Amino acid sequence: MLEKFKNVYDRIDEYKEVVASDPYRLRYHIMPPVGLLNDPNGFVFYKGQYHVFYQWNPFEPEHGAKFWGHYISDDLISWKEAPVALAPDMWYDKNGCYSGSAVVFNDRLYVFYTGNVKDEEGHRKSYQCLAISDDGIHFEKKGPVIHVPEGYTAHFRDPKVFYETDKWYMVIGAQTEKIQGAVVVYTSSDLETWHFQGPLIESGDASLEAFGYMWECPDLFTLDGKDILVVCPQGLSANGYVFNNIYQSGYFAGSVDYEAISFNHDSFVELDRGFDFYAPQTMEDEIGRRILIGWMGNAEETVIQPTVKHEWIHALTIPRELEWKNDKLLQRPVGELYSLRSDEIRFEDVTIEDNMELPEIYGNVFELELTVNDLNADRFTVGIGEASRIVYDTKTKVFTFERASLDGTEEVERRHCQLEHVAAIRIFKDTSSVEIFVNGGEEVFTSRVFDHPEAEGITFSAYNGTVQLDVAKWNLG
Ligand code: FRU
Repeated sequence: MLEKFKNVYDRIDEYKEVVASDPYRLRYHIMPPVGLLNDPNGFVFYKGQYHVFYQWNPFEPEHGAKFWGHYISDDLISWKEAPVALAPDMWYDKNGCYSGSAVVFNDRLYVFYTGNVKDEEGHRKSYQCLAISDDGIHFEKKGPVIHVPEGYTAHFRDPKVFYETDKWYMVIGAQTEKIQGAVVVYTSSDLETWHFQGPLIESGDASLEAFGYMWECPDLFTLDGKDILVVCPQGLSANGYVFNNIYQSGYFAGSVDYEAISFNHDSFVELDRGFDFYAPQTMEDEIGRRILIGWMGNAEETVIQPTVKHEWIHALTIPRELEWKNDKLLQRPVGELYSLRSDEIRFEDVTIEDNMELPEIYGNVFELELTVNDLNADRFTVGIGEASRIVYDTKTKVFTFERASLDGTEEVERRHCQLEHVAAIRIFKDTSSVEIFVNGGEEVFTSRVFDHPEAEGITFSAYNGTVQLDVAKWNLG
């Protein structure tokens, strides 16, 4: 590592107490030890352990030069911090080791990432780079393996590599010279020499009208017979209940022709309806589960989050297992999370009327599972602490998540989705986050919430009628 970066570990030590004293520090999520975290990278199962890397600026709780931070786990639940995997210390990555992925080949761990370079005039260059590890901890950089091809700008990044049929494939997020978002494909037989195959999908072409000026963080995989392309378009305008965050994260489902490099697909579906979700990455583990982990944040915050005072910002989501069922992508918290549960409280078939609390159903770090047996009211709400609330309106069939605005005003911010019925809700609350899984993961709302640190109330309400619920609650962690 360059001399100027050696002080990363000093910085972690120096701010250890400041960071740890933050009441908003999370209990069961991956966070940076100090500084800013964004995308998950290189999510992989290697030599019996899960590895997740992340975009990390250790020096400030804001965007800047990016490193690959690294955590390792036996069970997807307790994560151990590993040494910095990649530092931006070479000519081809000096302004950031940007996002990428990892695969295992001949017992070695290959990571692919984007070397981000800016020249004196601020012009961007990008290189898709390779680094290899034999122990999953120390990485040897091999330098660029791909340069930007003709027809694309330097917004060319976030390589995701996978094996299909008889060779390696890489999908890359791109911007065409017409300033349209695209995903392009490369192939390789040895992971070192790569061949450009052309675009898999290009916004503004025959099959897809203009759909954003840049697509980040693509991921392509087959799930229960469907090909799913996860991608993050930038530059879409809000349209009713969709595309309300600054950048979007979602998927196209369809069928890929790997010979012709073409993709016959349905329209784009958002993965998460909450305020804070972006740049997810998936991996297939040793028992064949497709697991997704996302950045519990979104780019270019307009409001400074309170954790910044404690020298850190952002976290990753809990891991979610994906399933393709009845033409829908379902996301469920991985089963390992059951092991965090304690102090179980259960109520069978309680009748919810106006504004009530249930004995012992309160907390700050918990899982709440609601099964809706009967919903005979105009509206049903669940208040979480003082800062957030779920509302389901049976007349309009709109499911809403509300939170107190992060700018400290009295304003309430809302995100919505249309839902024909609500049968089950699972809420994962951590000190400053809420992840809500509706109807077995048919819809998910992920958000940071900065409540009064001691707020523990959970309130249920039915307007103009009643709701019958089974309620179960556990403390987590
Ligand atoms: C997405 C992203 C990626 C890029 C990385 C840089 O959040 O902009 O496209 O590789 O973050 O940190």
